[in-house]
Amino acid sequence: MILINLKIYKEAWGEKAIEIGKMAKEIGDKYKIRIVVAAPALEALRIKEKSGAEVWLQNVDEYESGQGSGWVSMAEAMSLGIGGSMLNHSEHKIAKGKVSKILKMRPKGFEIIYCTGSIAKIREWRNKTKPDWILYEPPELIGSKDKSVASEKAETIAMAAKACKTVPLLVGAGVKSGEDVSVSLERGAVGVGLASGLVLADDPRKVLLDLVKGFGK
Ligand code: G3P
Repeated sequence: MILINLKIYKEAWGEKAIEIGKMAKEIGDKYKIRIVVAAPALEALRIKEKSGAEVWLQNVDEYESGQGSGWVSMAEAMSLGIGGSMLNHSEHKIAKGKVSKILKMRPKGFEIIYCTGSIAKIREWRNKTKPDWILYEPPELIGSKDKSVASEKAETIAMAAKACKTVPLLVGAGVKSGEDVSVSLERGAVGVGLASGLVLADDPRKVLLDLVKGFGK
């Protein structure tokens, strides 16, 4: 899987987000790689409808329906065809009890990616309420222009994969090349997550095609 996190980069607002969605859909279909766009809640449904891409959220809450002004409901997202979300991103930390609650109440088929930069946290959550995916991102490398987890801390990817056991692992932080992907896959990950390396690139398509190469396609 390639998870493209749009964050709230203005380079991916409105029409630009739809263009990224279209590119993800086209390249994902062509090379048979699951490419998911993690969008701001404001943009998610529109990107999905206009691009046909698989679109998830960047965060969800523990409110399902009724009195929950301002919170994001997984059940509502699911009913609109938005089938997953990131949770506990290092830019949007969530208290332990809330993570637990959200994981337990996720609707059937709604996929949660638990994000962390800590191997200990991976072990903790893999043993508790299992998330569907884990995104391992050392926070100090997030947004790096010239470094990545694969170039700086490749050995920790294998540790993260071991800690995940049966939960599929994605690797993020500074990812921008096919080399980042292949290093991650060789160490037990099943995919990558990225934001700045693609959203801020002069040529996002070139970046995405290079990532695809890292999967041997
Ligand atoms: O969720 C992925 C993200 O945090 C990684 O950011 O900019 O290092 O690709 P970036």
